[in-house]
Formats: sequence, C-alpha cells, structure tokens
Amino acid sequence: MKKILLSISSAVVILIIQTLYSGCNPSKNISSNSTSLKEGFKNEFLIGTALNATQIEEKEPNAAALVPQQFNAITPENIMKCEIIHPDWDRYDFDLSDKYVEYGKKHKMFIVGHTLIWHSQLAPFVSKIKSSDSLLMFMTNHINTVAGRYAGKVDSWDVVNEALNEDGTLRNSVFLQKLGDDYIRKAFELAAKAAPNTELYYNDYNIEQPKKRAGAIAMIKKLQTSGTRIDGVGIQGHWRINGLPLEDIENSIIEFSALGLKVSFTELDITVLPNPWDLKGADVNQNFEGSPYMNPYPQGLPDSMQIKLAKCYEDLFKIFIKHQDKIERITFWGVNDGQSWLNGWPIKNRTNYPLLFDRNFKPKLAFEKVMALTQKK
Ligand code: XIL
Repeated sequence: MKKILLSISSAVVILIIQTLYSGCNPSKNISSNSTSLKEGFKNEFLIGTALNATQIEEKEPNAAALVPQQFNAITPENIMKCEIIHPDWDRYDFDLSDKYVEYGKKHKMFIVGHTLIWHSQLAPFVSKIKSSDSLLMFMTNHINTVAGRYAGKVDSWDVVNEALNEDGTLRNSVFLQKLGDDYIRKAFELAAKAAPNTELYYNDYNIEQPKKRAGAIAMIKKLQTSGTRIDGVGIQGHWRINGLPLEDIENSIIEFSALGLKVSFTELDITVLPNPWDLKGADVNQNFEGSPYMNPYPQGLPDSMQIKLAKCYEDLFKIFIKHQDKIERITFWGVNDGQSWLNGWPIKNRTNYPLLFDRNFKPKLAFEKVMALTQKK
C-alpha cells in the first residue's frame, strides 16, 4: 500500500513539473525563427563546443551544419594533445590541428588551443625521459613548436591543464617531479613568448570547489607576483545532475575575476548517470560494465530527467548571465549526446545525455530553457 501511495505521489509530482514546463517539447527541431545559442548570447559571452576529428574534417553532415549555426568558439577535444600532435621527441603531426585551425578561420570562430602542458594523454616517450634537463627541453620544444606554429591564429591556449589535487596542492605529475613547482611559471613564460597575442589560461576541473579553488588562487597569485602573464582561468565544468555546485560556481567566478583574470567555462557537460565514486567502496573498473543499475537509460532519457537536466542548465545560465561581465566563454564538451566522452567515462559503453543536443542533433528541453533566458534579459 505504502509503495502504491509513494508511486502515485511521485507520479503527481512529475505531472505538476511537466505542467509547469508545458509547451516545451523535450526534443524538437529548431524553428526558423528561434535564434541560436551564439546569437542569443552574443552580447554576453562566446558559446563554444569541443570538436572531435570527424567533425573537424566535416565528415559528418549534421555536425557540419549544426556547429557553425550554434557556436562561435571551438576547442579540439583531443587532436592538439601531446600524444597526437607530438608523438615522438623529434616528430610532430600537424595534419588535424592545421585542419582544425582552418575550420575555425573559415567559420570566423574563436579558436582555443587545448592543451600544452598536461600529465594525461602525453606521448609515451615523455614518461621515459630521465633527466630534468631533457624534460625541460621537451617542454621548451613542445611549447615553442606548437604554440609558435599557431601564433596569431589560436586565440587562447590552455597552457597548463589539471595541475592541482583536490586539496589544492600541486599534483605529483612528471612535470612536478622533475622540474619542481616552477614548471608552471616556465610553461606560461614559454607560451607568452611563442604566442604573444594569444590569451593564456590555466584550466582545471573542480576548481570551483573551495579547497582546490584556494590552491588555484595561490598558484595564480604566485605567477602574477613573479610578473608572469596569465590571462584567464578555465573552470572545466564536468558536473552531475545531482548536486550542481551553484554557490561554489558563483563564488569562483567572483574570486577568479577579482584576480584580474577572465573566467571561462571550458568543458561544460552534466552527467545524468550514477557515478561509481558515489558508491562507497566501489571500484572504478569494468565490474560495472553492462550493469543496468549504472546504465539506467539505454533506450532514452525519461521526461522527468529531461526536465531535471533542463533545470540544471537553466540555473547555471542564470548565474552565467548575472556575471556576464566576468565571463569570456561557455564551451560545451561535445556537440551532441551521442558523441560525448561521458558515454565511455568513467564506465565504458553507457548511454549518457549530458549536452543540449540529442543523438539526432535535435535541441533538447535544456536548450529551450537556456534559450528562453535570452528573451528575458
Ligand atoms: C577527454 C576527451 O573528451 C576524450 O575523448 C579522451 O578520451 C579523454 O579526454 N579534461 C580535459 C579534456 O581537459 O581534455 C578531457 O577530454 C576531459 C577532461
């Protein structure tokens, strides 16, 4: 009986929410008179997306049409990372990165370089480097060659990515181990020389969280005191539908901006799936693969979740709009749900729904809710 009452009451709640949101089809075509994200927010901030190799090469007609229609900034999802662009000590592969930059130029977009110094997706040779001198030489060659090649073309570089631990201390990466904490200053100085007119960003996830944020602020202040140029901070924005940290996000915008920096949200997506780290004692590994509990929506996102996701995006964009004077760019990490990395991370082969466009490139309710805010401004 209790169970029946419970499900009736939850059905009623969902019905009320749906009624409140009525008129919003969870997934419908953009009508010719509704404007795009980039138009809607043209006076506030840039709206970006991350592109994979297929999209850069315009091999996918739907993405080729949607990206220039909706976005005015781009980030390469993978192809400028060390393992691809600099696979061996003396070998660089600029094939896709040149195409990426051409794509951005062709569509008159703001072009982001991602990323110069990061402990992940390094070419295998880097971890085999023995001496500090050689690692410094790698860093110097890498930044000079990659940032130098695109000087005047790439508008903003993520110079250093994810250098911090959750407690705000510096991550024990190969760079910290061999070069000490000064490697961050060196990276920014090299980038400033190689690409003098490019914005230089520090980029990380969870830096809206108080401890990590304090660590980021201390690191940035140290750079600034030493006279090193840093122009912006990128809050990645890989968040969850349960527990979006709105207050921390707002405080972060205010605090980072108070350092005289531009603030951008550089990798925005909101996972709707259960997270293995929420389960006490859970091992993050293949054990969860194929488990219906961890992959609850293989056939489609229920309306109740669609509505919840839309509310998250609406709440977020309200904060972004409120602090538009401090924000340079909002970039989504992917074009549509089907292409999001969150279908494969942290558990492989799941069906996630973290973005504004669905698997058929159709705008979701979240898109409508975000666009509706542009009418109210
Ligand atoms: C991710 C890509 O989306 C995946 O395709 C790749 O397999 C792993 O990296 N933080 C970052 C991004 O700075 O570069 C990461 O991108 C996501 C987390």
